[in-house]
Amino acid sequence: MEAFLFKDRVALITGSSRGIGSSIARKFAQAGADVAINYRKSGGSSEKKAMALAGEIEQAGRRAAVVQADISNKAEVRTLLKETLEKLGRLDFLILNAARAPFKPIEKLLERELKQLVETNYMGNIFCIQEALPALTESKGKIVFISSLGSKFYNPSYPLGSMKAAMEAVVRDCAESLRPRGIQVNGVCAGIVKTDALKTLRQFWEELEQIPEEIFIEPDEVADAVLFLSSPAARGILGQCIVLDKGLSLSLFRQPAKK
Ligand SMILES: NC(=O)c1ccc[n+]([C@@H]2O[C@H](COP(=O)([O-])OP(=O)(O)OC[C@H]3O[C@@H](n4cnc5c(N)ncnc54)[C@H](OP(=O)(O)O)[C@@H]3O)[C@@H](O)[C@H]2O)c1
Repeated sequence: MEAFLFKDRVALITGSSRGIGSSIARKFAQAGADVAINYRKSGGSSEKKAMALAGEIEQAGRRAAVVQADISNKAEVRTLLKETLEKLGRLDFLILNAARAPFKPIEKLLERELKQLVETNYMGNIFCIQEALPALTESKGKIVFISSLGSKFYNPSYPLGSMKAAMEAVVRDCAESLRPRGIQVNGVCAGIVKTDALKTLRQFWEELEQIPEEIFIEPDEVADAVLFLSSPAARGILGQCIVLDKGLSLSLFRQPAKK
């Protein structure tokens, strides 16, 4: 991506202290954007990581705002947008990356887990879209949602997949309903990405060991796709969740990884 493609533009990435979100934040900054980094809870390692990432981005000459907000809480999302705009002045890109869910079969979800699943991964994303709407209308901005193959295929102990499917429908819906405002909405549907979440996934999905190393996705590869969808080069793409899985979903038959 060109170094100054997003100069004087602002990107807000939810859940960007670590994992894929931090890679997206770095890539936007490398492409010239100022970045709002969001983390969920004060006082933990995520806050420290968010501050360190902001320092790194500022060192490279871009502005960074660090904002604590749990996206499942509408009041906190309002604060997230307010602080982003106060600190960085505008909003061009809303990247819906944050996600949080238990790994267990749907039939075993406790009521509070089910509520948290929906409140974070469905309602939280919609709160972000609603609160960002005035600023994105002004900038004719873009929204990119990070989905997963769980939106289309069965994954063991992965109730998040059903929320990803719902959000892919939201992407299509908003792509059309927000089109008159000049807001472009798309998503990236990622395969298996090398992040902290993968370590947890391994405990619930033995078959992961069968998947050859070259099928795994780097967080930077997801970030590149997000930047592409945020760029003028993707102006003809609307309401799509582009699959980025190195072919994982192409074949039912795959040679097991060599030990
Ligand atoms: N890893 C994969 O294989 C994979 C594959 C496909 C798609 N994805 C998707 O890519 C996105 C990022 O995944 P990842 O693997 O980087 O996840 P991760 O390492 O678990 O990080 C999740 C991020 O979301 C934040 N978050 C969680 N709940 C939040 C809330 N209520 N409010 C604000 N932030 C919140 C977390 O912040 P805290 O640390 O503060 O809790 C963290 O920064 C997710 O949407 C995930 O579903 C991942």
